[in-house]
Amino acid sequence: MKHQAVEGFSKLSKEGKIEWVVNEYLNGDDSAIKILKQYWNDDAELQKLHDEFSENTISNFYMPFGLAPNFLINNELYAIPMAVEESSVVAAASKAAKFWQTRGGFKTTILSTTKLGHVHFMYEGDKEKLKTAFDSTIKNQLIETTNDITKNMRARGGGILNLELIDKTADLDHYFQIKASFETMDSMGANFINSCLEQFAKTLKAAIETDTNFTDPEKDSVQIVMCILSNYTPDCIVRAEVSCPIEQLAEGNVTSAEFIEKFSRAVRIAEIEPYRATTHNKGIMNGIDAVVIATGNDFRAVEACAHTYAAKDGQYSSLTHCEVKDGIFRFWIDLPTALGTIGGLTALHPLVKLALGILGKPNAKELMGFVAVAGLAQNFGALRSLVTTGIQKGHMKMHLMNILNQLEATEEEKKYFVNYFKDKTVSHHNVIEEFCKVRGVKNVEEIKKEK
Ligand code: MEV
Repeated sequence: MKHQAVEGFSKLSKEGKIEWVVNEYLNGDDSAIKILKQYWNDDAELQKLHDEFSENTISNFYMPFGLAPNFLINNELYAIPMAVEESSVVAAASKAAKFWQTRGGFKTTILSTTKLGHVHFMYEGDKEKLKTAFDSTIKNQLIETTNDITKNMRARGGGILNLELIDKTADLDHYFQIKASFETMDSMGANFINSCLEQFAKTLKAAIETDTNFTDPEKDSVQIVMCILSNYTPDCIVRAEVSCPIEQLAEGNVTSAEFIEKFSRAVRIAEIEPYRATTHNKGIMNGIDAVVIATGNDFRAVEACAHTYAAKDGQYSSLTHCEVKDGIFRFWIDLPTALGTIGGLTALHPLVKLALGILGKPNAKELMGFVAVAGLAQNFGALRSLVTTGIQKGHMKMHLMNILNQLEATEEEKKYFVNYFKDKTVSHHNVIEEFCKVRGVKNVEEIKKEK
């Protein structure tokens, strides 16, 4: 069936929107109404708050909100809140936390906190003339005309750090940029940066129009293409690391030498092989995104930045690295990331406020540390499993619960199955087979019929 375009959808009530989607896309199946409404919150205020985070909202989309405890970070113990739907992520983080808790824990260091934005513009005139005007007058005017916008940020210790005219004409005819760097303290800074950039654009245009040195109306005019922050922040970097004497890495029947050889090789492969680096970094982002979401930050920005950084040397590579030096094993991540602990969702979303509370109300630098630690721990956990037992053993144990939930197993049955699969391989087939045995039926269809 072909669908009809809709006019004024955003103006329909929530009920109206639901009715429309049910009729237009779900063949009038009104069981969808029950599904959508069962996620509405009884607290009308809270529901309104969530509705207003976005547009055209018809329900809430839940994510599990979990805790990974026992993270020793800079000699303090933390429980890290994680919002993630993938099984094994929180378990792996917790396991890695426990491992490092007795081996000195995680250390974090802020390497830099500079954020960037650009006014992208076209100019066909004399480059030298533009450069001279920029350095002698325009730069100061850019600062002066944004004084109102930057006032509060300056009072908090931040503001505009630097302004540069960048000639990009070798890559694209007539293309220039104002490259602006900022310190945005505890806010992610997107609104602040974009407001400054839009004012820079106005100031630049007006400065050229009123400067009598720029007389050719065709060539000397500036055409603004766009003003926007860059989500690539290679100078806003946190380092998270773990280290211990090599002999402390021995576990069970794996010697420390064996472990280091296998682990280092896995990291090296991710450093030189983009196919593996992508999956390796995906595992790191499992931890990073979960904390970024739980703390109300923009995980798309964090993802975009991390992947650009991973490709900074011309080939996509690992975000983590390891070395053995003077008998010490060291494993670390340098993560560029722009996060905020004020503004945005951080003051609005009750669970975000709670997550930040659990972390001891961190400032943006501290939050950068927690996020990087979660990524590093996740990667350590994944690599340790991959190079020793393999990933499926742990994964399928977690997957067992998902299968049992799909089968609507009782709590007693769940207990039985966890115990039953303790020493057996979990597979979808094996679980279904045993489930049918326990229920005394031939196949899953019979269970469905029973209901
Ligand atoms: C799965 O979500 C993440 C892993 O694939 C990461 C990795 O391979 O390093 C296990």
